[in-house]
Amino acid sequence: MKHLLKLLDVTTEEIEEILNLADQLKYELKHGIEHHHLKGKTLGMIFAKASTRTRVSFETGMYQLGGYPMYLSANDMQIGRGEPIEDTARVLSRYLDGIMIRTFEQKQVEDLAEYGSIPVINALTDFAHPCQVLADLMTIRERKGALEGLKACYIGDGNNMMHSIIVGCLKMGMSVSVACPEGYRPDKEVLDFASQYECFEMTDSPAIAAKDADVLFTDVWASMGQEGEAAQRRKAFEGYQINAELMKLAKPDAMVQHCLPAHRGEEITADVFEAHAQEIFDEAENRLHAQKAVLVTLMK
Ligand code: CP
Ligand code: NVA
Repeated sequence: MKHLLKLLDVTTEEIEEILNLADQLKYELKHGIEHHHLKGKTLGMIFAKASTRTRVSFETGMYQLGGYPMYLSANDMQIGRGEPIEDTARVLSRYLDGIMIRTFEQKQVEDLAEYGSIPVINALTDFAHPCQVLADLMTIRERKGALEGLKACYIGDGNNMMHSIIVGCLKMGMSVSVACPEGYRPDKEVLDFASQYECFEMTDSPAIAAKDADVLFTDVWASMGQEGEAAQRRKAFEGYQINAELMKLAKPDAMVQHCLPAHRGEEITADVFEAHAQEIFDEAENRLHAQKAVLVTLMK
């Protein structure tokens, strides 16, 4: 594995290795066992969108690994003024040991990897959020013991989160059922991948998707960059909510996962969120451990 651009590129075995290493690094951290695998290495962290979890977990993770995290705001870089990504990639490759990037277009991340000569990590694009879903898989495995055979359901927008959940969960042997309104379905590339699996289902009914689910996912109705569509989306997604009624259809011990930030009263009700807060904040914590595993895998 040279980069982490999207889960479509990663094999089941590679995901499993990352999850195993993440568990080990978490154990070591909790027991005060030093793991300076990236001593002397620098990670450039380019952000063209806001972030709380991603920035703090990558920065802390790099520090815990003995390396140096360098925060770079895309607006303050020359890419913000039109410098080509090809040149940015070749320049940064002369200074850094790895790049983490959060931006809009997936192509920008792919180009950074193509023209640079160091590992590139996608820390969210409009197309994918692979780091988040590695943390989600880690959290589910921690609680349920294994992933294979579990049913995941996702209610809401066919966005970066839905894409990575579909691919990640199917690759790990889970069945996946997604509910989304027409006009907000996942990307064709993801649907083409998912269509190879009999255990994939897409419906416009949250009730069908949630039936007997072991894990329920949702995400905001309007993602970063879509703020102008918020009102229209609120209408389109009415009813696409994880609430107490929907939870009754899932397995009695079903988990809820939310990448956060959450909009209570929209994609999830406050009562369901609070009832599952423990596993949702475990999920947020596991961003740290899963990403450290990615960093070590790519940069050691
Ligand atoms: N889940 C997630 O990526 O959070 P941030 O946007 O705060 O980084
Ligand atoms: N779909 C959301 C995820 C945030 C972590 C967004 O792109 O804004």
